[in-house]
Amino acid sequence: MNNFEFKNPTKIIFGKDSIEKLENEIPKDAKVLLLYGGGSIKKNGIYDQVKTALTKVEVIEFGGIPANPEYAVLMDALKVIKDENISYLLAVGGGSVIDGTKFLSAAALFKGDTPWDILSQNIRTEKGMPFGTVLTLPATGSEMNSGAVITRKETKEKLAMGGPGLFPEFSILDPQVITSIPRRQLVNGLTDAFTHVLEQYMTYSVGALLQDRFAESILQTIIEVAPKVLKDPTDYQAASNFMWSCTMALNGLIQKGVPNDWAVHAMGHELTALFGIDHARTLAVIAPSHYKYNFEAKKEKLAQYGERVWNITEGSMDDKAYAAIERTEAFFNELGIDTKLSDYTKDYEGTAEEISKRFTDRGWLGLGEHQSLSPDKVEKIVKMAY
Ligand code: NZQ
Ligand code: ZN
Repeated sequence: MNNFEFKNPTKIIFGKDSIEKLENEIPKDAKVLLLYGGGSIKKNGIYDQVKTALTKVEVIEFGGIPANPEYAVLMDALKVIKDENISYLLAVGGGSVIDGTKFLSAAALFKGDTPWDILSQNIRTEKGMPFGTVLTLPATGSEMNSGAVITRKETKEKLAMGGPGLFPEFSILDPQVITSIPRRQLVNGLTDAFTHVLEQYMTYSVGALLQDRFAESILQTIIEVAPKVLKDPTDYQAASNFMWSCTMALNGLIQKGVPNDWAVHAMGHELTALFGIDHARTLAVIAPSHYKYNFEAKKEKLAQYGERVWNITEGSMDDKAYAAIERTEAFFNELGIDTKLSDYTKDYEGTAEEISKRFTDRGWLGLGEHQSLSPDKVEKIVKMAY
């Protein structure tokens, strides 16, 4: 096992009707900016629950943060924060609203002139404006980590940021919120969380037995609850296991002491930036090709995953590893997720070259657990995913 340090300060408040506990978490003298997305919270009752819990503090609202949170919209929110002397941020939404709020937490205290530098120059945020979240969509794990991904339409960029100052102070997870989530977003959530685990697991063995089994148990739980959640989103047991699995998939725990990959996300983010494809779907497009291309380096873990997670017991290590990739792609397909870029756009010619060039320009010359995935390899993987 590799050396590691682990600190996660986010308080999780989990369970039925937990949104009412919001009242206890926000300082009474705070001036709060409540941030939300396109308005789903006004239809499903979450907004009313939040407002009821906030009657004792001063609240201003900012809605309209789109999926793949857009820099230009967030700059409008930043103006509100400054003009209104906001002291506390509250995100009510999925990964996009929470990530947008993390950007604002950083930008509100940023000393430079151009907040985009936080993303383009990868400036770590050591201290941000305090914020909490009410999660409405299990998927990204953003509710319990310190990372965010922000989109800029103007330049078709989607860049990540983070730092120890960007953990939410608290996150409220009421699994009942999933009853109003459209099927498309439910399968996105299942796929995103599943791939988060793969990114931290599908590398090479360092004898970290517990981390491997944490990862495998999250994958097994997602596989088990996926059909139940899709069949009946009011099934509370399934919803609660789904929600907690998504959080555990990316709260830092399973990545400690083991090598991490994250190249699937790096490539996937470009597909969202270029074509607007839902984040989770870009991962399902890239992952099978990535694992096939890097088969030799990853086959030991692929075979272990095939055996332990999918019960693939026949054949050699190579056979099991290959079958595990096929089974993963079939799982995404069974959820209703297409796994080829050409399923999403007719304009895919030249995409691989474009992404490879972007990575070269950014100096991303060696991604993955061996820091050896060079832009020419990225080009080949993206082409395999056409
Ligand atoms: O905008 P509203 O009206 O809220 O509707 C949203 C949105 O249209 C809707 N929705 C959310 N909760 C709902 C609901 N509809 C009905 N009932 C509810 N309870 O779902 C749609 C998608 O929401 P979004 O927040 O965009 O989805 P998700 O949570 O999948 O977040 C995706 C974003 O997170 C980033 C992605 O890149 C993408 O920008 N990620 C963030 C990560 C992180 N911070 O750790 C890691 C991930 O790998 C990912 O990159
Ligand atoms: Zn993701």
